Amino acid sequence: MSLVHETDYGTPASKSSEMVTLTIDGQSVTVPAGTSIMRAAMDIGTQVPKLCATDSVDAFGSCRLCLVEIQGRPGTPASCTTPVGSGMVVSTQTERLKQIRKGVMELYISDHPLDCLTCAANGDCELQDMAGAVGLRDVRYGYDGENHTKQAKDESNPYFTFDPSKCIVCSRCVRACEEVQGTFALTIQGRGFDSKVSAGMDEPFVESECVSCGACVQACPTATLSEKSVIDIGVPEHSVVTTCAYCGVGCSFKAEMRGEELVRMVPYKDGKANRGHSCVKGRFAWGYANHRERILKPMIRETIDQPWREVTWEVAIERVASEFKRLQAKYGRLAIGGITSSRCTNEETYLVQKLVRGGFGNNNVDTCARVCHSPTGYGLRTAFGTSAGTQDFDSVEHTDVVLIIGANPTDAHPVFASRMKKRLRQGAKLIVIDPRRIDMVRMPHIEAQYHLPLRPGTNAAMLNAIAHVIVTEGLVNEKFVRDYCDLSAFEHWASFVSEPQNSPETVGLVTGVSAEAIRGAARLYASGKNSAIYYGLGVTEHSQGTTAVMALANLAMATGNLGREGVGVNPLRGQNNVQGSCDMGSFPHELSGYRHISDDATRTMFEKLWGRPLDAEPGLRIPNMFDAAIDGTFKGIYVQGEDILQSDPNTKHVRAALAAMECVVVQDLFLNETANYAHVFLPGSTFLEKDGTFTNAERRINRVRKVMTPKNGLADWEITLAIAKAMGFEMPYSHPSEIMDEIAHLTPTFAGVSFDLLDKVGSVQWPCNEKAPLGTPVMHIGGFARGKGNFMITEYVPTDEKVGPRFPLLLTTGRILSQYNVGAQTRRTDNVVWHEQDVLEIHPHDAEERGVRDGDWVKIDSRAGGTALHAKITDRVAPGVVYTTFHHPDTQANVVTTDYSDWATNCPEYKVTAVQVSPSNGPSDWQREYNEQAEHSRRIAKVAAE
Ligand code: SF4
Ligand code: SF4
Ligand code: SF4
Ligand code: FES
Repeated sequence: MSLVHETDYGTPASKSSEMVTLTIDGQSVTVPAGTSIMRAAMDIGTQVPKLCATDSVDAFGSCRLCLVEIQGRPGTPASCTTPVGSGMVVSTQTERLKQIRKGVMELYISDHPLDCLTCAANGDCELQDMAGAVGLRDVRYGYDGENHTKQAKDESNPYFTFDPSKCIVCSRCVRACEEVQGTFALTIQGRGFDSKVSAGMDEPFVESECVSCGACVQACPTATLSEKSVIDIGVPEHSVVTTCAYCGVGCSFKAEMRGEELVRMVPYKDGKANRGHSCVKGRFAWGYANHRERILKPMIRETIDQPWREVTWEVAIERVASEFKRLQAKYGRLAIGGITSSRCTNEETYLVQKLVRGGFGNNNVDTCARVCHSPTGYGLRTAFGTSAGTQDFDSVEHTDVVLIIGANPTDAHPVFASRMKKRLRQGAKLIVIDPRRIDMVRMPHIEAQYHLPLRPGTNAAMLNAIAHVIVTEGLVNEKFVRDYCDLSAFEHWASFVSEPQNSPETVGLVTGVSAEAIRGAARLYASGKNSAIYYGLGVTEHSQGTTAVMALANLAMATGNLGREGVGVNPLRGQNNVQGSCDMGSFPHELSGYRHISDDATRTMFEKLWGRPLDAEPGLRIPNMFDAAIDGTFKGIYVQGEDILQSDPNTKHVRAALAAMECVVVQDLFLNETANYAHVFLPGSTFLEKDGTFTNAERRINRVRKVMTPKNGLADWEITLAIAKAMGFEMPYSHPSEIMDEIAHLTPTFAGVSFDLLDKVGSVQWPCNEKAPLGTPVMHIGGFARGKGNFMITEYVPTDEKVGPRFPLLLTTGRILSQYNVGAQTRRTDNVVWHEQDVLEIHPHDAEERGVRDGDWVKIDSRAGGTALHAKITDRVAPGVVYTTFHHPDTQANVVTTDYSDWATNCPEYKVTAVQVSPSNGPSDWQREYNEQAEHSRRIAKVAAE
């Protein structure tokens, strides 16, 4: 194995379809018009020396190293900024050019510390490479005059340093921050000799607007911007391409290693989801894999008040199997079940549902998608026939109007947000529908044309009002509807949305948004040449989550915004493999590929291959499992990679359910909150320690590759295999690729997928089968998967969760960039410097009414429970609305959320809780108790780890 090196073509590719032929160094080359001479030269294998150019950003032409001669033209133009011309005759290497380049390099090196041998970038430095490339052998000027070699380093960022003494002011970092990331945190300050790179208003990086995406570090050709891990460990010597295990963007990375030690994660340019970009989590926040609190040995205990006892894998697996068998013998076949993880691979998820269906003999399997995107599956399947988003991420490059609803891409899907921001800077228009003024509403060089700050819980009403404008103002794309949709369903729907109760004027009273703004946004969406909808949990986690997903599908169909690039209905999936866990048959009523368990033909196929009879009756969903546990009929659960106590609503209820079970088996990296109620703890493996695949928000199946041996001894898939075997249900796999082969064999949409194919082409988007051997980037081209597009009636039904005198405010929740979900991983990395605690955002008016000052402790109470946290006074939230994140277990927003849920899928209504906020002296009683318990668990974990 060696380091994977990707070619740097110097300048971005031209997208022109016109071709131009020219001659470079005597060779003829044909490239798209608009290509730089530098890039065209790469096509014939000639690398023109360069420093300020790199192919992730537009050329700038400042270093003067890439000069060429063009026949018939005076001077020596820069090849990075000069586009090719038909018939051009170019020389890249002449005596004159050689002398100029040497002179340029000599000047750079004369103001550069000559500490190459001890520099962290030795062997990985373009300045060093270029000195060699131009044949620089000696530097005539010393350090006597003024120079920059003694400047102080900025080490404020936890992950990278900025050493200005090594800076050549090439501005690659500045351009990467602007063009790739879209944050505009860096500038070149001053002029001439005094020019220097500065973060924010000449602040330390960590205090500036910098979001630590790493794009500048990536772009820097010198050691000026360097990862601290490289400085500590040394330059990596081999790399493995794998997939980030955080969010649903599914970025590809090169895990760069020294032996079995991970040195850095470098975004992979050929990764089709991220195109070489990253965010702070995937790029830097991988230290949790080595965190001292990680549990590496299996543990058991008889009752949950006993201390844990470390045991061998054999003993732990035997305990799981014998307990589950005992429970089934005593309470019946249906008394146990399992929960699959959206953090684990497709193969691991598939195995857990196979264990439950084939080994436990029931369908009591569910997944954490229950609490996030289950309405997406149901809603999109009903409308279009497929339970997934319609586009690939590249599609946004063709979008003219972006509609974001209930999503906060810059925090939750940052790499895709950067691509979206780029398109918006190019002129696409933006509509944001969100109770909170998310960053996308206004940021450098971007301003939403419409921000509709609706009251939480009124999405369906708002979308009906937008539909009302589209139908009553004649904005329907009649040809699309006629050609591709069920006409009678359309007519029924059109007459429903035209009713006066759906007019913007009436709906405005419900949503709190002016009719004028609703009408304007509707017209903009309907009139865009290509309009695309992007949505998140702010749509799904409601009592009408499924209704709102269907309403979005209705809008896209009515305006003809489906079936081509630039359009579509796109769920921004939260977790790395939430799409995959749904695809793999994790729901109690569905086998892989969303086929109902009651379908005899499908079931028989699985029965034959697995050699087990399968129950035709759907099993219990997660909330039903909890209810059954409290009723005394559900007694044992296998939870793989999911902290249900912290992530499911109404914590009190979940705690009671777990306490009522006789065998709770938790498989995870850390002793999570659920583990406090567990009898067996099986240490899990990280994404770095196993092979498999993740499926991202665009249905892209990407390889996860093992870069090190599992520290706990077994990868997660091997643990499930061992449990199955101990329960007498042997599964015949020696590698995850064989599990994928079985999935492909049994699942029509995966029929063409194999590890071999993925290794060959990088990644594919399902459906991938005979009809689409390389996958399907855009769905529903020339017709819907279900036949005709189905318009559904989406009547607005207000949630039962109502504000009143006791609970007058509405709480809604979300994420922050540096943290991830319940924070189990990111809280165990240096990312905590950006978010040490969850805070409550409250509008100045509501704060003043309650005598709350910025930073005060406040109590927040709902019908379900209460917690306390610090207040942050801000007008990002409207009066009457408060907001918090849910990353820290000592505040646990879900203590407050209720167990109201989506009518179709039971997805909890996390986004609307009626609450009261009042001043407080500090943490509430349960929080104090929790903190003591957590400290106790940490001590146990430490002892166990030692
Ligand atoms: S890390 Fe990202 S956001 Fe920060 S300065 Fe570099 S490019 Fe800009
Ligand atoms: S920090 Fe690096 S990328 Fe930025 S100007 Fe200096 S040398 Fe160039
Ligand atoms: S955007 Fe998501 S997938 Fe990409 S690096 Fe960040 S967390 Fe990982
Ligand atoms: S690489 Fe062309 S001017 Fe610097």
